[in-house]
Amino acid sequence: MFKISFYDTKSYDRIYFDKLKKQFQCEIKYHEAKLNKNTAVLSKGCDCVCAFVNDELDKDTLEVLYNQGIKLIAMRCAGYNNIDFSYAFGKIHVVRVPAYSPYAVAEAAMGMILMLNRKLHKAYIRTRDFNFSLSGLIGFDLHGKTIGIVGTGKIGRTFIKVCSGFGMNMLMYDPYPVKDSDYNYVSFEELCRKSDIISLHCPLTKDSYHIVSHEAIDWMKEGVFIINTSRGALIDSSALLKGLKSGKIGAAGLDVYEEESEVFFEDFSEKIVQDDILARLVTFPNVLITSHQAFLTSEALENIAETTLQNVSAFFHDQKLVNEVCYHCSRERTNCQQRLNKPCF
Ligand code: NAI
Repeated sequence: MFKISFYDTKSYDRIYFDKLKKQFQCEIKYHEAKLNKNTAVLSKGCDCVCAFVNDELDKDTLEVLYNQGIKLIAMRCAGYNNIDFSYAFGKIHVVRVPAYSPYAVAEAAMGMILMLNRKLHKAYIRTRDFNFSLSGLIGFDLHGKTIGIVGTGKIGRTFIKVCSGFGMNMLMYDPYPVKDSDYNYVSFEELCRKSDIISLHCPLTKDSYHIVSHEAIDWMKEGVFIINTSRGALIDSSALLKGLKSGKIGAAGLDVYEEESEVFFEDFSEKIVQDDILARLVTFPNVLITSHQAFLTSEALENIAETTLQNVSAFFHDQKLVNEVCYHCSRERTNCQQRLNKPCF
């Protein structure tokens, strides 16, 4: 029986993890608090930590966890940009859920496009007030328009299938293109210059940080739609704000936001939000913000719970760690124990 210290718990996490904890013979200590250097002490007596997208896994936090004997961080998400790997290496192993439902995120991205383009958010509110006027609700056909897809991994490729169903032209940018595909790869600049809609499906890395910058927005078409269901810091929020104010950006669909860790997943309806950029973004009629919910389908939650517990169980039963984040060998490609079916170090 191993003990998991589970941070940033929501009611839906409990439903899916509690269903499986008996099968995986584990005990779960749920905390509502996010993980950071102050809350890390809550993991005392546990064997491993389960964390999510907005938990802080910096050096200070990892140090507390390591000193308490934590051997494994099980991320219940795909991304791991919030972990200080230079500290973790050699001390704490990291596993993740590389894929749980590319459909959930790809469908959410298309949902945002449809809502913003056809102004369904406005129509919903109007008709509730018995206002059946159509003025100001004109959209455009997606058919024949050009969509630029940044990142052609699991979600990007699923999104390509969704867009092809709408008869859209597609341009793709990815520094690691899919081999032997018939995807229409172009440079990021060309994608920006030619796309009517741009949808981001790449991870946050030092190369992709603020990929949507002032310069990139300058390259874009007048009235471009920008959709971000990946990570907030892919977009420079001040550049986005400027583009929206000037009318250069026609609409923005944001499921993620650069400074989301301070606010997303929490109820601020009775409080004053201190983030002025977020507060301004919320005022635009052509901006749709959702609280990092693109993944939130029952299928995805089931897969997340199952893969996370499989990862943890594999680690504590000395089985092959297929979902370990192997940052050591991806840097140096030597000495990695994964080739011997063992954990990375
Ligand atoms: P993946 O690893 O299958 O694909 C990522 C693709 O991005 C790869 O093809 C890679 O070559 C490409 N890429 C890397 N650096 C790039 C760059 N600088 N510019 C353009 N492309 C680049 O990942 P997957 O599963 O498709 O997920 C994509 C992203 O979606 C994740 O990194 C995560 O940030 C986000 N995500 C968001 C969720 C949400 O609920 N909003 C849920 C799940 C994932």
